[in-house]
Amino acid sequence: MKHLLSIEKLARPDMERILTDSVVMKRARGRHKAQPLAGQTWALIFSKSSTRTRVSFEVGISELGGRPMFLSAADIQLGRGEPIKDTARVMGRMLHGAIFRTYAQSDVEEFAQYSGIPTINALTDAEHPCQILADIQTIQEKQGSIAGKIVTFIGDGACNVPVSWMFAAGKLGFQLRIAAPKKFQPSAALLKRAAGKIICTEDVKAAAREADVLYTDVWVSMGKEAESAARIKALKSYQINQALVKLAKPGALVMHCLPAYRGKEIDDATFEANADTIFTQAENRLHAQKAILNWAVS
Ligand code: CP
Ligand code: NVA
Repeated sequence: MKHLLSIEKLARPDMERILTDSVVMKRARGRHKAQPLAGQTWALIFSKSSTRTRVSFEVGISELGGRPMFLSAADIQLGRGEPIKDTARVMGRMLHGAIFRTYAQSDVEEFAQYSGIPTINALTDAEHPCQILADIQTIQEKQGSIAGKIVTFIGDGACNVPVSWMFAAGKLGFQLRIAAPKKFQPSAALLKRAAGKIICTEDVKAAAREADVLYTDVWVSMGKEAESAARIKALKSYQINQALVKLAKPGALVMHCLPAYRGKEIDDATFEANADTIFTQAENRLHAQKAILNWAVS
């Protein structure tokens, strides 16, 4: 039984296989004959909002011959307090796979344990593995192998997206720099677990210098809305803008997992100047997730 619960738990050969297959999925879109999900129904159980993850999984499942079933957690008994392990055992008897977006990482892990069907983490507070696989596909498509590159993350360095980046750095051998205020840097325990070439700093300029990729994410992740004002104040200078891009390598990629808040983590001019990369990143969610689904059922 294969699950994609986190980049931390994804074995390096599996990660490499998914990344290779995502390129094939992209190239062969509309022409591939294999229908690995034929006759299958996969649920998307979402406790948080989503545009990209939801659309790319629904389209991807259909293109691989399966049927997607979107379930907002608020509309099923889960939202009224039915335990995860009971929901999982019911779904495991009817469905072929599940894609779960929620708060606690332990909820996705418990679902995988009890459902007996392939389970994919579509974002938790801890990690966003599908995003990072599509991002690496994008970098490799535009710049070749990520090994040896410098990826600089700027902003809330302790949220799900940079944490998945940390575990990817440990597995794929690139340097990750995280520029964030101390309070928004990953914990020492997480850094130890990731075991990669990772530098955390409060110095945004030093982090951007000679980088191959400048990457950012929202300052206020889903579930952190009550901290909005404090986060906006604390993260004010952790923005990707024209001045910062000048410090990176010529031709450096500027990336954003989206949704973007212009004037906060990125300025409008920088976003628009790099829109092709950013929306290729969004498109690659579809191809990378088809590769994840194909891997999960093989
Ligand atoms: N990047 C990302 O996961 O976007 P959604 O929240 O719209 O799915
Ligand atoms: N860190 C963001 C990612 C959104 C795709 C969040 O959790 O809201």
